[in-house]
Amino acid sequence: MAGFMIVRSLHSPPHVLIFPLPFQGPVNSMLKLAELLCLSGLHVTFLVTDHIRSRLLRFTNIQSHFSRYPGFHLDSISDGLPEDHPRLGDQFMEMFNAFQAVTKPLFRQMLLLPASAIAPRPPVTFIIADGILSFTIDVAKEIGLPIVCCCTISPCSLWLFFCLPILLQSGEFPFQENELDVLITCVPGMEGVLRRRDLPNFCRSGDPDDPNIRLFMTERHQVPRADGLILNTFEDLEGPLLSQIRTLCPNLYTIGPLHAHLKARLAVDTAPASSFSSSSFRQEDRTCLSWLDEQPPKSVVYVSFGSLVTITEEQLVEFWVGLVNSGKRFLWVIRPDSMAGKEWESQIPTELREEAKKRGYIVGWAPQEEVLGHPSVGAFLTHSGWNSTLESVFEGVPMICWPYFVDQQINSRFVGEVWKLGLDMKDTCDRVIVEKMVNDVMDVRKEEFSRSAERMANLARQSVSKGGFSSVNLDRLIEDIRSMSC
Ligand code: UDX
Repeated sequence: MAGFMIVRSLHSPPHVLIFPLPFQGPVNSMLKLAELLCLSGLHVTFLVTDHIRSRLLRFTNIQSHFSRYPGFHLDSISDGLPEDHPRLGDQFMEMFNAFQAVTKPLFRQMLLLPASAIAPRPPVTFIIADGILSFTIDVAKEIGLPIVCCCTISPCSLWLFFCLPILLQSGEFPFQENELDVLITCVPGMEGVLRRRDLPNFCRSGDPDDPNIRLFMTERHQVPRADGLILNTFEDLEGPLLSQIRTLCPNLYTIGPLHAHLKARLAVDTAPASSFSSSSFRQEDRTCLSWLDEQPPKSVVYVSFGSLVTITEEQLVEFWVGLVNSGKRFLWVIRPDSMAGKEWESQIPTELREEAKKRGYIVGWAPQEEVLGHPSVGAFLTHSGWNSTLESVFEGVPMICWPYFVDQQINSRFVGEVWKLGLDMKDTCDRVIVEKMVNDVMDVRKEEFSRSAERMANLARQSVSKGGFSSVNLDRLIEDIRSMSC
């Protein structure tokens, strides 16, 4: 572990320390941000956990790719967990508690070490940290460094987390299973949209003392203490809610979609994949791209539930049968750890496996951005993680949403009800519904969803092109980093 000194020299270039939450989605988007800052000539230290660093070094081209930026440095810190810990979604609280207990003091210690410990790199002059790591704000304030939070979940969910106290006071909780479709009217900007069913899954306990509710309430209320807030979104997607967020965090930098922003700045839309850095913590199986090359345009349903979701045997079988019965071609990412320790293949009866082989292709991890951009892909069955959602929006691919946790329940509601970019399958996992939704999105309502998806994709492209809102906001962020670093 290296260290950074706090005394700044007038002659030192700005040096930004970027610290993402140790999950795939947040690391992906914040590494893109790191590269955007490097492109502008800033020094960047990208700080990840030891566990993630070893995976990045093993599975990605991060070292060779970033060697073109002499100001880039990859550093790491302990996440407080044993190396063989599964680090999956259902252990979120355990991971977060270890982070608080172990990583927080290490982070502070790291920033207080003398400059000689990191020479010849210049001292850190600016921090960008995930918005849920509020201890970074405490440390930044203590040592007098400017800090901007980066929210890697969706802004619609961020706003909901800001409104948790209103929800708790409104008498909304507790509620029964048969009251899930009741509309919630007390969240400004979400009237007529938000149902109890669309709240984060942990709200269902109805217990205001639920540790998850407490965690998100506490952490989110620290965000306005930072000097600004970066959101991975674009104004045309979430304008009305962004106005609400601005009432609490006026210095907002909406600079997304970050993955597309980088492509736009590098102007390499048509360049080979090797032009980009991969940030997968797993080995990508690129054979699926050749398989996609052989399929007709827009004929394939891409299925992936992200990096943290675990599914049960029953759910696996329902999806399997639903996909096979839909008669559509599919590319499905089934991570080896998808079933929390169980090996998934033995759960599927042989005849079903044979049936799937006719039209399906399964990989353990895919180069998702490339898959979503492939002309053969016609729909995305997704867990509605924020990065997956933005990647699908940008490529104009309609979605079928099966949300799992945190921000995903509300993301899927916005996809289905507000943006009209697909269907929300929330709270059901039934072969008949899977089959019907796949056919609705791929056939019955294909025109309708394709039209709205293409319209939104165009707006996303405009936002990151020269003069677009996200592009202008990124330039403003870079200017602010320079001026606040002096
Ligand atoms: C976590 C939370 O679960 C999510 O709610 C929150 O919005 C962000 O952090 P995660 O499971 O990492 O999400 O999902 P997501 O945000 O969608 O990110 C997954 C990333 O992995 C995407 O960038 C996607 O392109 C990538 N991916 C996924 C691959 O590269 N290959 C795959 O096979 C699957």
